[in-house]
Amino acid sequence: MNDRFLKACRRETPDATPVWFMRQAGRFLPKYREIRAKHSLIDICKDPELNAKVSVLPVETLGVDAAILFADIMLPLEGMGVKFEIRDGVGPVVQSLLDDFQKVNSLSTLDPSSDVPYVIEAISETKRLLDSRVPLIGFCGAPFTLASYLIEGHATRDFLSTKKLMYKDPETWHLLMDKLSTSMGIYLQSQANAGVDAVQLFDSWVGCLSPTDYHKFVLPYSQKVFSYLNGKAIPCIHFGTGTATLLEEMRHAGGDVFSIDWRIPIDIAWGKLGYDVGIQGNLDPAVLLADADLIKTRAADVLMRAGNRSGHIFNLGHGIIPETPQENVRQLVEFVHEHTMTRG
Ligand code: CP3
Repeated sequence: MNDRFLKACRRETPDATPVWFMRQAGRFLPKYREIRAKHSLIDICKDPELNAKVSVLPVETLGVDAAILFADIMLPLEGMGVKFEIRDGVGPVVQSLLDDFQKVNSLSTLDPSSDVPYVIEAISETKRLLDSRVPLIGFCGAPFTLASYLIEGHATRDFLSTKKLMYKDPETWHLLMDKLSTSMGIYLQSQANAGVDAVQLFDSWVGCLSPTDYHKFVLPYSQKVFSYLNGKAIPCIHFGTGTATLLEEMRHAGGDVFSIDWRIPIDIAWGKLGYDVGIQGNLDPAVLLADADLIKTRAADVLMRAGNRSGHIFNLGHGIIPETPQENVRQLVEFVHEHTMTRG
């Protein structure tokens, strides 16, 4: 197996810096668009063979060092009793908002074998299709990011309804976060049992919070999700955007590797986190819309700042933009490998 990614997660020294991308199995890939023209996102998620085919696409066309499970952060919520759809160009839209105690109290606990059996099958099928070429990353949404969709109904700029519930009705907030963290912990455990080689906790929207609110309203619950993986020897990646001022708190919540966006230079972020954890990132996804020279200059800057330390996984600061030319991404993978290959 190509062990660059797992070596970097463990802060060992791989032969080159590993690289993979959030949303690497998405619309920027012409082959994905072909499949999507015939099947909905949910259909792909729920069909293990099609699902595995999609997860493996970026490994074959881009040469990335890890695959990520093809799923969505919202899928397990269906099993907890939430009704939602995933709208093209928008993302998740939740039908009945979870904005009071009674509604939150009625959420059930996820039972992966009956609620998301297709995720477990997709993991086995993807592992089979990968045939040990690269590791497979499992994932789930972090309690805060999931709660924000459940309370707002969709992603927003300022997350005011989420904050209002947090401040005005802390009892409901803590119950919701506790239920989400229990179910996501169980969900990640089931992914680990099914064979994923690492997991990533996606707290995409957590950057809207102050460190004080993160500490009080979020940290204990992200910590609880990670606690379900204690004793499973697989690395955990903790991702968020806009987290420059939250990194020390996120470090306390847990994770072996921290995935950061481009708003903070990677050397400064690593200094704040401490060099006893790994770091993932952090090219601005918009850079991939530029010309080859600029892409290389910016990628070289990220690598220079990571300073050849063990524990860097090259990635973007957030998902690949659908308009990105596939060739730019392929060349970036090649550049990162060639640029770091000579170390030793
Ligand atoms: O390649 C991969 O990263 C694999 C699979 C994956 C998807 N969603 C499939 C998907 C992963 C890891 C996710 C996680 C996810 N989903 C997050 C966390 C990561 C992040 O980007 O912040 C979030 C916030 C969601 C919710 C969601 N689902 C959004 C915001 C969108 C995009 C809406 C749009 O159309 O732009 C989705 C839809 C979605 N999930 C797509 C994919 C590949 C879009 C493409 C499609 O409809 O086929």
